[in-house]
Amino acid sequence: MNYKQWLAEQTVSRLEGLKAEELADWIEYPPNPEMGDLSLPCFKLSKQLRKSPQQIAEGLAQGWEEHALVERVEAVSGYLNVFLNKSAYAAEVVGEVLAEGERFGSRNIGQGRSIVIDYSSPNIAKTFHIGHLRSTVIGGALYRIFNFLGYRSVGINHLGDWGTQFGKLIVAYKLWGDDAAVEADGIDELQRIYVKFHDEADVRPELEDEARAWFVKLEQGDAEATKLWHWFVEISVKEFHKMYDLLGVKFDSYAGESFYNDKMAPVLDMLKQKALLEEDEGALLVKLEDYNMPPALMVKKDGGTLYHTRDVTAAIYRKNTYDFEKAVYVTDAGQSLHFQQWFKVIELMGYDWAKQLVHVPFGKVSLEGAKLSTRKGNVINLEELLTKAIEKTREIIEEKNPELEDKDEVARQVGVGAIVFNDLSNNRVKDIVFSWDDALNFEGETGPYVQYAHARACSILRRAAAGHDAADGAAAPELGLLTDTAEQGLVRELYMFRERVVQAMEKLEPSIVSRYLIDLAQAFNRFYRECPILRSDVQADVKAARLALVKATTIVLTNGLALIGLEAPEKM
Ligand code: ARG
Repeated sequence: MNYKQWLAEQTVSRLEGLKAEELADWIEYPPNPEMGDLSLPCFKLSKQLRKSPQQIAEGLAQGWEEHALVERVEAVSGYLNVFLNKSAYAAEVVGEVLAEGERFGSRNIGQGRSIVIDYSSPNIAKTFHIGHLRSTVIGGALYRIFNFLGYRSVGINHLGDWGTQFGKLIVAYKLWGDDAAVEADGIDELQRIYVKFHDEADVRPELEDEARAWFVKLEQGDAEATKLWHWFVEISVKEFHKMYDLLGVKFDSYAGESFYNDKMAPVLDMLKQKALLEEDEGALLVKLEDYNMPPALMVKKDGGTLYHTRDVTAAIYRKNTYDFEKAVYVTDAGQSLHFQQWFKVIELMGYDWAKQLVHVPFGKVSLEGAKLSTRKGNVINLEELLTKAIEKTREIIEEKNPELEDKDEVARQVGVGAIVFNDLSNNRVKDIVFSWDDALNFEGETGPYVQYAHARACSILRRAAAGHDAADGAAAPELGLLTDTAEQGLVRELYMFRERVVQAMEKLEPSIVSRYLIDLAQAFNRFYRECPILRSDVQADVKAARLALVKATTIVLTNGLALIGLEAPEKM
């Protein structure tokens, strides 16, 4: 049940001329329990009703005596504060969680509509770095959140698989390449010869001409060039897949930049027809000075197309193919101008869906203390990062819980989870300073902390089952008994899940779910400290109700963790 809506329906009949939905939007969940469970600010009503907010609140506070869901109501400084009946609240919320299970929190807000999410999108023959990890993790979470809310998410990996760099790579490979080394070291080796190309080209500029010539060959479909290019793509994608498997991320399409090679000409024609293309020293561009932006370069003077050209073409293709309600692009904030530029080009082309294009930027990641770098010195290699997180977690498990079964599996779930959660634990546009201690801390506001709360709850349920304390078979637990402060605090957090998922979707901000999970885990830990469950002096009916609350907590923790891409091990 949605309590905001409920309260709006209860009050709307007394407020002429208002709609319940409008009212529901104004209702708040007060931060402090002394102000009730729900609060309706009456300020906006004042003008229309020609009364002071406090008078309105006092009027609305009348006549709740008989209401089974309400304990009491107060009018305070222009707010109508509603205190829910604790038993009814607990029974309602916990009952719903238990009944809905893994669907708890899901909705069908988006039924019949699709959302295209362009994420991860690493570059062929280049390291999959921490920026791509952020894109993968944020995009993956948005993908699951939209699906959970009833949309059809379409995940697209817009691989950087085209561009003049492939001319350089071919030259480099022909000069210094070695099949065995490429097969063995994959992207690392490709990157090595690519870097060498740049070093050498400083002293032998003719290499650049050769590279351009090879790229032209590639564009013209030359067999040798195409074969090499395919091989570079294959080697790289194989490595990316290792990462995606670890992270549990999937894509519906791997249509990268090259996919649009044969689709750009008609788009360029259209731009010409609409008189949007201007020539500038042989290049073709769309001027954007009226919008305070530098021009969007569409065709270089050698006839080559660019990142912009492919993004414009891809957007039109995606609109036609998926008829999206929104197309979301997840990249670092450094690319914001690029997206603003070509979104404007789409708008100037007359497409009214330009406003459905959304750039979801995120901040940079830097590393604290020990360095984790590739040879170039400034990039964090993601595979190393994940492997190290798993190893470190394994050491912690060895120390804290040496008896644990499936140590490797749990170390993977928790180690990877720590990295993912760390990435999602702050507002996405904030820059992150990565620290091992913070990311792997079982007590701090981390993924392992949330996973540990879940494992602890599972352990209580296991012990109860072993002692035949579980409510199984017995009469349904009396959930109305859950009226203690700590129990109510936990009930309230469970209830908030649905709201938080919708907020995360609206703000395209998965960290709303991660922050929520910390709050939920904290509420659970407080309940665990304050309310004995399996102790022999706890009455059987209280025990059964508390176990039901524990069970409900495991459900919501699992659902929430799954949305942001974390598994919920039962033991750790
Ligand atoms: N390959 C690009 C990069 O690594 C990201 C591509 C993002 N997607 C897009 N449609 N431009 O920076």
